[in-house]
Amino acid sequence: MNTLTVDLGARSYPIYIGQNLLTDPQLITPHVVAQQVMIVTNETVAPLYLDKVRAAYAQFNTHVVLLPDGEVYKTLESINRIFEQLLTQRYNRQATLVALGGGVIGDMTGFAAACYQRGIQFIQTPTTLLSQVDSSVGGKTGVNHPLGKNMIGAFHQPRCVVIDTDTLATLDDRQLSAGLAEVIKYGLINDPEFFSWLEAHADALLARDSNALAYAIARSCQDKAAIVAQDEHETSGTRALLNLGHTFGHAIETGSNYVGYLHGEAVAIGIHLAAQLSQHLGWLTLQEVERIKNLLQKVHLPVHIPAHISAEQMLALMQVDKKVQHGKVRLILLQGIGKSLLTEDYSAALLHKTLTEGYADLMER
Ligand code: NAD
Ligand code: GLY
Repeated sequence: MNTLTVDLGARSYPIYIGQNLLTDPQLITPHVVAQQVMIVTNETVAPLYLDKVRAAYAQFNTHVVLLPDGEVYKTLESINRIFEQLLTQRYNRQATLVALGGGVIGDMTGFAAACYQRGIQFIQTPTTLLSQVDSSVGGKTGVNHPLGKNMIGAFHQPRCVVIDTDTLATLDDRQLSAGLAEVIKYGLINDPEFFSWLEAHADALLARDSNALAYAIARSCQDKAAIVAQDEHETSGTRALLNLGHTFGHAIETGSNYVGYLHGEAVAIGIHLAAQLSQHLGWLTLQEVERIKNLLQKVHLPVHIPAHISAEQMLALMQVDKKVQHGKVRLILLQGIGKSLLTEDYSAALLHKTLTEGYADLMER
């Protein structure tokens, strides 16, 4: 087992990465302060892993909230279902919530934990590649609104993150690729050596080579933990770098009503658009944009804006973003592979050009 730390002073916590960790009571026991434990999961993940997780928490008094599966259910209504269970079962402030599932379950469980009785503790047990490399770490929690992705939320750090890499065995190939979008993101933000490693090991990752996956997960968590430790609440701009591709991506998700495009797929399109805008600004070479596009496509990710969202719609949707300041959307752009920055130093005309060129040409459609 590999143990990393998210270094946040009194709120520091471990990330455990390894095989067969779900059933291990020793990992979680030190992080559960009282008897009441509510496991939040969904109808897809529960039949696969709920019994195992319940076994690990056997010494506690556990209940389960079973939510419907999907990004469309990442809503305040689902949060209310968690609250109803907590209140019905008379959960108190010493209770622990356990998120068992992908990023949707993790974000909602964390948000419910942040709000219930003004804050209770929670544990992340991410079961998708995307949630293992990104959403379970760093304490961003929340839900979507029909008008904007992740617009309602709170910062609330988990007590620990338990990444059992065995859970990836049941994940389908499309979801695995979606997770790789966030992995590639780390290479582009500030880890060019990792980007080159990913280029060399893309086939191994797609073939689910366990060593390659374990390495990619640990390195991603390490990269994310380092950024979160520097800027937990995204005040200095450092943490915003983790949003590379996300302003474009969130616009695609919202514009698709949270169906059709997985979060990681939308982020992949966004990363490609960010690279193209960076190239228009003279900050990236055409060869660098090609390297980025090739790696995304090699791991079976889309790189073009879906035809059902117009460039004008993209522009409007991008205005609903947490990085908007003084009416201008600040974007994460690239000045090289592994060199990202938060900037508003681009013209509306160049952004518009990037968007209008961001659709597949007729041959590719
Ligand atoms: P997801 O939670 O919808 O999971 C994807 C699908 O895989 C779901 O159908 C799920 O039920 C299923 N699943 C989960 N584990 C499985 C397993 N082991 N085997 C088989 N199926 C399994 O999606 P995701 O990609 O994990 O997460 C995306 C969400 O994460 C988005 O809402 C995004 O906004 C959020 N996110 C948050 C952060 C953050 O910092 N908080 C970062 C990145 C993404
Ligand atoms: N996923 C972006 C962040 O955690 O800041």
